[in-house]
Amino acid sequence: MRKKIVAGNWKMNLNLQEGVALATELKEALAAEKPNCDVIICTPFIHLATVAGVVEGTVIGLGAENCADKEKGAYTGEVSAAQVKSTGAQYVILGHSERRSYYGETVEILKEKVDLALANGLKVIFCIGEVLEEREANKQNEVVAAQLESLYHLTEEQLANVILAYEPVWAIGTGKTATAEQAQEIHAFIRGIIAGNFSEKAAEEISILYGGSCKPSNAKEIFSKPDVDGGLIGGAALKCADFKGIIDAWN
Ligand code: 13P
Repeated sequence: MRKKIVAGNWKMNLNLQEGVALATELKEALAAEKPNCDVIICTPFIHLATVAGVVEGTVIGLGAENCADKEKGAYTGEVSAAQVKSTGAQYVILGHSERRSYYGETVEILKEKVDLALANGLKVIFCIGEVLEEREANKQNEVVAAQLESLYHLTEEQLANVILAYEPVWAIGTGKTATAEQAQEIHAFIRGIIAGNFSEKAAEEISILYGGSCKPSNAKEIFSKPDVDGGLIGGAALKCADFKGIIDAWN
């Protein structure tokens, strides 16, 4: 059985004190009521070491939102996969559409990042998804297939440490969610690509999350689809009650 997962992506929100307060609130909410899925929070780099202490020994996993495409050295302002790992984090988001579009992250750069993350013992939450014009031109399948090329060189053993997140760019932060049917259709297509490039077993085992304006009111319907294994949550991950509401969609 593949994992059901609800992961939060805090993006560039919350100062350290606010982040610690949110992680603490979530920890208390989940201690009172055990979740029926894996729960992960992905925070800005500066929160990681402190939040790691807050969530240690709980059901909450911790991740970064990015890491460098270089191992170490004179890359001012960058944070390496090894540095992320040393904070106590277990995950890293790579290939988010905001990184691809605002910071020019290409398939090749992401391949380097994926390799470094996995080599340093991090699990990767790898994001893919099309922009509105591509959806309108019915090109979403070829777009996600091309984005997945950053993973094709992995061994099946390495792929077992990758979670996919399908996030249509037109649904991120817009309040416009993909329908459950649209999500199911492309998730099934993505799973088929994994089957073709790896194996049926790898495809069956990989978790594919949906992201884009997911909230407590629509999570249950989206998660009810057979190829949707949970969500990667932006805005709604910044409020404990909303994030918990999405986690509860798995109950
Ligand atoms: P929103 O949930 O705010 O639409 O963001 C989704 C996202 O980009 C998560 O990575």
